[in-house]
Amino acid sequence: MSKQERSGHIGILTSGGDTPGLNAAIRGLGKKAASKACNMQVIGFKDGFRGLMENRSVRMDNSMLSGILTLGGTILGTSRDKPHKMPMGGKLVDMTDVIVENYHKNHLDALVCLGGGGTLKNAYRLSKHGCNIITLPKTIDNDIVGTDVTFGFDTAMGIAVDAIDRLHSTASSHHRIIIVEIMGHKVGWLALGAGMAGGADAILIPEIPYTIEKLADSILQRVSLGKRFSIVAVAEGAITVQGSNKIRAIEKKLDAADGDERSKLKKQLSALDKEYRGSTMVMARDLEKITGLETRVTILGHLQRGGTPSALDRLLATRLGTAAIDYIKDEQFGIMVAVDGEGTRAVPMEEVAGKINYVPPDHSWVTTARNLATSFGD
Ligand code: F6P
Repeated sequence: MSKQERSGHIGILTSGGDTPGLNAAIRGLGKKAASKACNMQVIGFKDGFRGLMENRSVRMDNSMLSGILTLGGTILGTSRDKPHKMPMGGKLVDMTDVIVENYHKNHLDALVCLGGGGTLKNAYRLSKHGCNIITLPKTIDNDIVGTDVTFGFDTAMGIAVDAIDRLHSTASSHHRIIIVEIMGHKVGWLALGAGMAGGADAILIPEIPYTIEKLADSILQRVSLGKRFSIVAVAEGAITVQGSNKIRAIEKKLDAADGDERSKLKKQLSALDKEYRGSTMVMARDLEKITGLETRVTILGHLQRGGTPSALDRLLATRLGTAAIDYIKDEQFGIMVAVDGEGTRAVPMEEVAGKINYVPPDHSWVTTARNLATSFGD
C-alpha cells in the first residue's frame, strides 16, 4: 500500500524528566490525529527512547486519551535513556540502529518526541539517521532556546510560589531566615519567577554568581530596618563567584580542546559543578554564622514536577500537541514546535539542540526585582 493510500502512522514518546502538561499534549496530538480530517494512527512508545528500542508500544486510541488532560506525569512513562548511550547490562551501548530499525518496522511516518534539552539533542541525532522527527518543548526549567516558553514551567512556578507563601508565615513567626531551594538545573527561570511572585527578599540564580557576604549584608540591612525574617529563593544551580570563575576558566579551555583533552576538561567541569552548585545546606550554615539569625532550609525537589498541570500549561500543551499534527501534514520534519506568542513556529532542531536558554542578567524580571531592593547576592 502506498503512503497516500494508508492512514499515516505517528509515533509518540515522552523522554527526560516528567513535566505537568505531558498528558495534555499527548491528548491534543492524539485527538487531532484521530479526527476525520487527519485520519492518522498514533502509536505510543513506553518509557522514552528505551520503549522504542525495545519495541514496547501501545495504540493510542480514544479510550486512552480520555480523562488524561488533568493528570500529572505521563501515561506513556519516561526515562532519561539516550539512543546512543543506552544502559544495557551495566554498560552504555549505542542502540541507535535498533531504534531506527523499529521506527521503520512500525511504518512510522513521523515520530514526535516530547522532551527537554536532552531529548532535543537525542531527537536531532535520530533525525540525522533518516527518521522524520518533531519535538515539543517540555520542561519545568524553561531552558530551551528558540521558544517563548516551555510547558510545565508555569505549573512548577506556581507550586514554588505556593511554597514561598507558606514559608513566609512560619519565617515571620520565628524571626528566621528560610532558604527555599528551587529546581531549574543550570538556569534560574524558576527560582527567579517564583522568587519574584512570592516576594522573596533574596534570589540566587546561576546566571548571577553570589557571595555569601553580600547575601548576608542584604539580610542584615533588612534587620536594621526592623524586618526580622527573610526568605531566600535559591536555584539548585546557583553558584558563588569563586565557583563560577573556576567553571568559566575550564569552559574557555573546552572551546579550544578536542579528543582526550576535551573529555578530561568535561570531567573537571562536572566535578566543579558538583562541588559548587546545590550547596544550599552549606550556604545556610554560613549565613547563620555571619548573621546570627536562625536559618532553615526547604528543598522543594520533585514536588515541583508532580500533580495536575496549571490551566496555562494545559492550554499550551494542547496547542503544541495539535500543532504538531499540522507540521506532520505539511511534512515539516527535523523541527521543534516552538511557542510563538499565541501561535507556533517550526524551529530547525539543528539551531537549538545543545543550546541553553539562560536568564539574561539584564532581563526585565531581574531589573524589576532589583527595583524592589531584592538582593541577588552580587
Ligand atoms: O529538568 C527537569 C529537572 O526537574 C531539573 O530541574 C532537575 O535538575 C532534574 O530534572 C532532576 O532530575 P531527576 O528527576 O532525574 O532527578
